[in-house]
Amino acid sequence: MPETYETLLLERRGRVAIITINRPDKRNALNIKTREEGAALLEELRGDNSVGVVVFTGAGDKAFIAGADIAEFAGRTSITQRDVMMGRSLFTAIDSFPKPVIAMINGYCLGGGCELALACDIRIASETASFGQPEINLGIIPGGGGTQRLTRLVGEGKAMEMILTGEIFDAATAFSIGLVNHVVPAAQLEAKTMEIANRIADKSPIALQLAKEAVKLASRSNLDEGLRREVDLFALCFSTEDKDEGVSAFLEKRKPAFKGK
Ligand code: COA
Repeated sequence: MPETYETLLLERRGRVAIITINRPDKRNALNIKTREEGAALLEELRGDNSVGVVVFTGAGDKAFIAGADIAEFAGRTSITQRDVMMGRSLFTAIDSFPKPVIAMINGYCLGGGCELALACDIRIASETASFGQPEINLGIIPGGGGTQRLTRLVGEGKAMEMILTGEIFDAATAFSIGLVNHVVPAAQLEAKTMEIANRIADKSPIALQLAKEAVKLASRSNLDEGLRREVDLFALCFSTEDKDEGVSAFLEKRKPAFKGK
């Protein structure tokens, strides 16, 4: 049975926690409550050793997330808007979450929805999903990482085109520019996502955390700094029981049983 929050559902399947944004009537648009509940839930799951991987998805078959809740924009001052983005940043909570996070993209993935997917580590889309940063059509620009994470992922030319035109495009195009890792028929989206999530969830949680941190350094530091810190994180693995278990299991030709120690 999923645990129910005002705007979210949480379902645990083995070591995978599935968080569903549950506002299908509003195409799962991110309002303040969703951001707060999402960030609080991640804080809870952060220290929960029974959870190895988190999956984000949207309720219903139309939308992953159709962006920030535009209805909340009316009358908001620049200072309140800044507070919403920075004080309750669900995107930062995902980005800095110490476990892998997967976006299971089942429909409209627009604006803040695309930014949430970009903050995740892996993106898997259904053939029926569509993508875009349409903020420009509202006379604004992306403010949740759209200009930064998107540019690092797909390159400046593609990011610029998406952000300047606000155009919405299909999953095949998203795949061709490297915005998503996989595109599968809608009926296979959950199975494909769970297959990847379960494969990851069996690994050493410490190695996963350090691997995520190391990969993120690539776009946040220069090469020399990144390489130096990679060695430090790699060396840190040698202080863990999981490394001893992984190596022993290989030599003994058996499956490792990692404990996160
Ligand atoms: N914020 C607030 N409400 C939203 C929303 C958003 N980002 N996206 C959709 N909704 C609401 C609609 O207002 C509508 O509410 P209502 O039934 O109370 O009128 C409901 O969700 C259904 O939307 P609708 O436009 O009728 O659905 P659709 O399937 O025909 O179109 C979209 C879906 C996503 C293409 C369209 O809703 C849209 O363009 N949304 C805005 C996308 C956007 O600009 N996002 C970036 C925000 S910065």
